[in-house]
Amino acid sequence: MDGKVLVAYGTKYGATAEIAERIGQVLRQAGLDAEVLPAERVGDVRAYQAVVLGSAVYIGQWRKQAAAFLKANEQALAGRPVWLFSSGPTGEGDPAALTQGWRFPTGLQPVADRIRPRDIALFGGAASVEKMNLIEKFMLKQVKAPAGDFRDWAAITAWAASIADALK
Ligand SMILES: Cc1cc2nc3c(=O)[nH]c(=O)nc-3n(C[C@H](O)[C@H](O)[C@H](O)COP(=O)(O)O)c2cc1C
Repeated sequence: MDGKVLVAYGTKYGATAEIAERIGQVLRQAGLDAEVLPAERVGDVRAYQAVVLGSAVYIGQWRKQAAAFLKANEQALAGRPVWLFSSGPTGEGDPAALTQGWRFPTGLQPVADRIRPRDIALFGGAASVEKMNLIEKFMLKQVKAPAGDFRDWAAITAWAASIADALK
C-alpha cells in the first residue's frame, strides 16, 4: 500500500515514545514510510494511509494529548486502518493478567468502538524511580506496582510486524 503510516504517542517520561520509535523502525524495515510523532505534534491525519496510536497509562487514563488526538480525529481515524496500544503495567508476566484484563481506558472505549481499530494492544511499561516525583512514587506503591523496565521488545516487534503485514 502507498502512503505514509503515522505512529503517534502520548508519553510522560519517554518509555512510550521509545515503544513508538520501535514500531516505526519495524514498519520502515518492512518497506513502509512510517512517521513517528508525539500526538500533539501531528498535523492532518488525512495525510496518512494508516495510524498507530499509543499512550502511557496513569491511573487508568491515557495521557491527555493522546486521548485528545483520538477524540479530535475520530472521523478521519474511522476511515483508516487504525491500531491502538497502551503502555502500562509494570511487573513480571502477561501485562493483561497484571491489569485483570484491562487494556484501554473505559472512558475512551465508545470512541474506539466507533473507530473500530484493527487491534488494541497492551504492553508492559517502564517506571523509573529517578524520574518520578514524590506523589508518583507514593501512588505506584499504593497500587503495589514495581518500578523498573518491563517493556517486552519481542512482543512489541511482533505486533508491529503484524501491522506491516496487514498494510502490505
Ligand atoms: C503514578 C503512576 C501511575 C500509574 N498508573 C498506571 C495504571 O493505572 N495502569 C498501568 O497499566 N500503568 C500505570 N503506570 C505505569 C506507567 O503507565 C508506565 O510506567 C508507562 O510505561 C510510562 O510511560 P511513559 O514513560 O511514556 O510516561 C503508572 C505509573 C505511575 C508512575
